[in-house]
Amino acid sequence: MGVNLSGRSFLKLLDFTTDEIEYLLALSRNLKDLKRTGTPHKYLEGKNVVLLFQKDSTRTRCAFEVGAMDLGMGVTYLGPSGSQMGKKESIEDTARVLGRMYDGIEFRGFLQSDVEELAAKSGVPVWNGLTDLWHPTQMLADILTVQEHFNYDIKGKTLVFMGDAKNNVARSLMVVCVKLGMNFVACGPRACWPADDVVDACKPIAQANGCTVTLTDDPVAAVTGADVVYTDVWVSMGEPDEVWAERIEQLQPYRVTQKLMDLTADDSIFLHCLPSFHDTNTTVGADIAARFGVTEMEVEDAVFEGPKSKVFDEAENRMHTIKAVMYATLK
Ligand code: CP
Ligand code: NVA
Repeated sequence: MGVNLSGRSFLKLLDFTTDEIEYLLALSRNLKDLKRTGTPHKYLEGKNVVLLFQKDSTRTRCAFEVGAMDLGMGVTYLGPSGSQMGKKESIEDTARVLGRMYDGIEFRGFLQSDVEELAAKSGVPVWNGLTDLWHPTQMLADILTVQEHFNYDIKGKTLVFMGDAKNNVARSLMVVCVKLGMNFVACGPRACWPADDVVDACKPIAQANGCTVTLTDDPVAAVTGADVVYTDVWVSMGEPDEVWAERIEQLQPYRVTQKLMDLTADDSIFLHCLPSFHDTNTTVGADIAARFGVTEMEVEDAVFEGPKSKVFDEAENRMHTIKAVMYATLK
């Protein structure tokens, strides 16, 4: 039976089958071709979507806005201070209002339970644009980038996440890898390993799909022969400033260096969801350099700017994949 995601919300990848994820990736590829060839694809003309952001964003917001406009839809952006939500109006009431006006809702915020409540109460598809627990739209862009590099043959490839392996991106990568038959390695200090619940959920899926989940604190063992090395910021949005000192101390051995990349497979790639602290050309980067003397955090500038880095292909793919999610769920 064909895949039909019409009317579905996109809250976390554990809710989706392998076939459904592969369908979204194939659709992304088609939509990317249409965009590249300048072929109009206003398939959702007359519909409207609203984007709710409790946290900042460049890629996710722009991907939803451009994706929606390419599909012919109207878009409203509500930022952290732009609506009544959470302050004077509950999530439930907000959901019931927005569901009367819009055909779909994107939410980026703190609590996974908030995006789930929006989905339960709005009556329209809701898309998770990142919560403290999950970042599912990011995963489609990441895997599309891996597919493009490895000529759509990704089963059995090994993806290593280096650093704060308990965060929303690492957790989500574990799920998408095991769903698609890729080996997943989380590499960081034990204090930064993914929570048991997500490991427990992923291990049987990995077994069924002929791949593995590994947790390790040994960066050399982790990256040797790896196909994809992935990292993310050491402190995520919503975490207090005070955690920087501890995190920098814990995670310095897990910085993605050229020396580590030299141990990976010849055709390996480097990925990062972005934004990245690979130099001091940001206010946070400069502040960390002044306070801790660290000028490159999760990745060396040479790797970020090097030939294996596919981070800007990955960033572009946010738009094609988010467009696929909106089209599949609203058509
Ligand atoms: N990767 C990602 O989600 O980027 P933004 O925070 O800019 O949306
Ligand atoms: N882990 C990061 C991802 C940013 C896209 C954060 O939550 O801030």
